[in-house]
Amino acid sequence: MLIICEERGMTLITVPRGTYDIMPKQALAWQWLEKKIRQVFLSYGYGEIRTPIFEHTELFQRGIGATTDIVEKEMYTFTDKGGRSITLRPEGTAPVVRAYIEHKLYGQTPVTKLFYIGPMFRQERPQAGRFRQFHQFGVEMIGDASPVADAEVILLAHDLYHQLGLTDLEIHLNSVGCPHCRQEYKTALTAALKAAAAKLCTTCQLRLDRNPLRLLDCKNASCQEIISQVPPIQNYHCADCRHHFDQVVALLAEVDVKYKLSPKLVRGLDYYSRTVFEIINNELGAQNALCGGGRYDGLVEECGGPSVPGVGFASGIERVLTTLEQKGILADFPNHPQFYLLPLGEELTTIAFSLATQLRRAGYIVELGNGAKSLKSQLKTAHKSGAAFAVIIGEDEWQAREVTLKTMADGNQKRYSVDDLLAQLPQLVIALEKSASKEE
Ligand code: HAM
Repeated sequence: MLIICEERGMTLITVPRGTYDIMPKQALAWQWLEKKIRQVFLSYGYGEIRTPIFEHTELFQRGIGATTDIVEKEMYTFTDKGGRSITLRPEGTAPVVRAYIEHKLYGQTPVTKLFYIGPMFRQERPQAGRFRQFHQFGVEMIGDASPVADAEVILLAHDLYHQLGLTDLEIHLNSVGCPHCRQEYKTALTAALKAAAAKLCTTCQLRLDRNPLRLLDCKNASCQEIISQVPPIQNYHCADCRHHFDQVVALLAEVDVKYKLSPKLVRGLDYYSRTVFEIINNELGAQNALCGGGRYDGLVEECGGPSVPGVGFASGIERVLTTLEQKGILADFPNHPQFYLLPLGEELTTIAFSLATQLRRAGYIVELGNGAKSLKSQLKTAHKSGAAFAVIIGEDEWQAREVTLKTMADGNQKRYSVDDLLAQLPQLVIALEKSASKEE
């Protein structure tokens, strides 16, 4: 939204609706989370893949499904100057599958395990926990059709959240069957719901013929009432799908992962077959899914590759960070300088500049005062910055090639020659950090 600045009659340019800036302090929390995610994914044997932010539109039309909300209403699609239809990626699975096929990864190892972290784009109605540019981390395990793969992927999401301190999330689990038994269910579902079609909401009426499974997760109360009468998809599972799901459930029980069976969970993307799941934080409000995923055995072939099965999940970073904050788990990430250098007078700024460079090259976080103001005002700025130490470079001290080190917490100060200071800094910093952690 553009905002008119009343005072000067000028137009202020703000971030587009549904997007936001990640400011430096918040960026520290993002970096911390991304590091944890990478550690856990690497420990499970996944390699990172970075695909382009935009892809050919057809990838998502074919991959996600032409009648899904994402493809019908939410994609940022444009024609580029070469006349090609391009779409900002709304999710990561189809691009990973595209790359898997393009790089012929199926010819290298029987199972390929990839993970990704990055921005996705959907033109949804913004609200708490729902953005137009949001960020996902996710994994795709391609090449393993066994229920062990499904259980391992769910366990990975569960373990990752546990390692972050999120131990009271709910796992919702279902199987949407294979294309054969699902088709039977769709026919039965359409027939059963047609009788009550007039009482369904407009969206459900439209979906009835085009994508009847999606009616199952409609939030409208009168639709819910009608849907509660229809038989669950489990009644239509073929023997193989039933066996597969029983195995997944048994494997999760084996490793003590709690789940809730949710017969109405169908997910909003068409590529799923058999297992689907979501992990929910009930305290998040309407947008309570931290992650969603499942098996997609037909997707690689649908995108032009060989017939290879796949399973994966993706999680919203914003929702994970909100949950961590909500539960008081997210630490306050200090981003203060360790040293604030105060040259007392412009003529000492070159000295300070050179000392700051030496300290930064040694790995310390250093702010440099400009030497233009009085000691009092520079110290005030140093205090404000949260620096642990002020290094005062005054005319007199510098005559003797010395500086004064002031510990900001207690005001103690001591003179050092530059060489002594550099030699003693590691111990000084460790001692200060120790006393700071004792205070906490
Ligand atoms: P999805 O359920 O569409 O699945 O998205 C996964 C997660 O991304 C959601 O649970 C939510 O945390 C987050 N998310 C989705 N849309 C938004 C939004 N507008 N704003 C904020 N967060 C959002 C997929 O994307 C599949 N590709 C998952 C998958 C991977 N299935 C198999 N492999």
